[in-house]
Amino acid sequence: MSGDDVTAGFARYFGLAAQAADAAPGRVNLLGEHTDYNDGFVLPTPIAAQTHVALAVAPDDVRRCSSAQCPDGADFGRYVFGCLDAAAERRLQAPAVWVYVDSVVPIGAGLSSSAALEVATLRALRQAFRWALDDVELARTAQRAEVRYAGVNCGIMDQMAASVGRAGALLFLDTRSLEHRLVPMPHDSELLVLDSGERRALASSGYNTRRAECAAAARALGVPALRDITDPSLCRRLEPPLDRRARHVITENARVLEAVRTADPHRFGTLMNDSHASLRDDFEVSTPALDCLTRLLRQQPAVHGARLTGAGFGGACVALVAPGECSHVAESTLAAYSAAGYRGRRLV
Ligand code: GLA
Repeated sequence: MSGDDVTAGFARYFGLAAQAADAAPGRVNLLGEHTDYNDGFVLPTPIAAQTHVALAVAPDDVRRCSSAQCPDGADFGRYVFGCLDAAAERRLQAPAVWVYVDSVVPIGAGLSSSAALEVATLRALRQAFRWALDDVELARTAQRAEVRYAGVNCGIMDQMAASVGRAGALLFLDTRSLEHRLVPMPHDSELLVLDSGERRALASSGYNTRRAECAAAARALGVPALRDITDPSLCRRLEPPLDRRARHVITENARVLEAVRTADPHRFGTLMNDSHASLRDDFEVSTPALDCLTRLLRQQPAVHGARLTGAGFGGACVALVAPGECSHVAESTLAAYSAAGYRGRRLV
């Protein structure tokens, strides 16, 4: 799928030519899970799959949205129009627009299809209306759209990954200052992403509960955010489950900081395995399916490490794999996963 398809789709659906078109990718997070709303560190990378958006000023002054995947626009509209409203809050004005979306980013799998849509929409709007909006401010506006208009109280990782990330590199992001830099992938390794087949429901899941628990833990420890604690033994001062929630965030930040200093795929993989254990035992956002899939991945000799990626509660797993081995690993892991009674698929 390309930009040509989305402008052709726009013209076919609306019967007029698009005035601007742009795109943005989904992302997979390698390390630093549930750290972004604690002012911590993350390490995502964009995936090849992109969401394309084409738009034009509405000749009838009524805003409309459609997509190749869902012609009545029901699923996409609140994100698209949320971007317009979030931009208007920043005094970035646009007339009513007609918008057409074409996306191959899997929805509901934990690869941030919503951030891809928001960033693609804002890029197309920036182009059409010559907004003065840099890539970091664009990511902030996209996050605002998701929180305020789509009702998901997310952090900034996904929108920053889609806006300033580069394919083939890891984005090391400090979510407090938004300082960021690209770091190379670990040596001799490729990424494999498998869908567990379990759909996530982020807004209705425990995501907001985890956020509230982290905020309560930071308050009890007397710091603005858990990012400000580096000694995990301080968690002993907290009541359960806040002690476990805080320990995950503190140790996860340390794992990201170590990962950006190591080029060794084995060490990097071990940090991913440790991250999964922490998400399962301390943060309690894994599921039996995600535990099974990551365990099966780790049993493959070519796998350096594997973990759930994204918010958890279902969705996808990411593995760091020796070069040239991804197809084989995917096939044997998915066969064993089916034998265990689940149904997964390869996403990346
Ligand atoms: C979702 C949110 C992100 C982040 C992750 C967990 O993807 O959108 O902001 O909190 O969960 O790391």
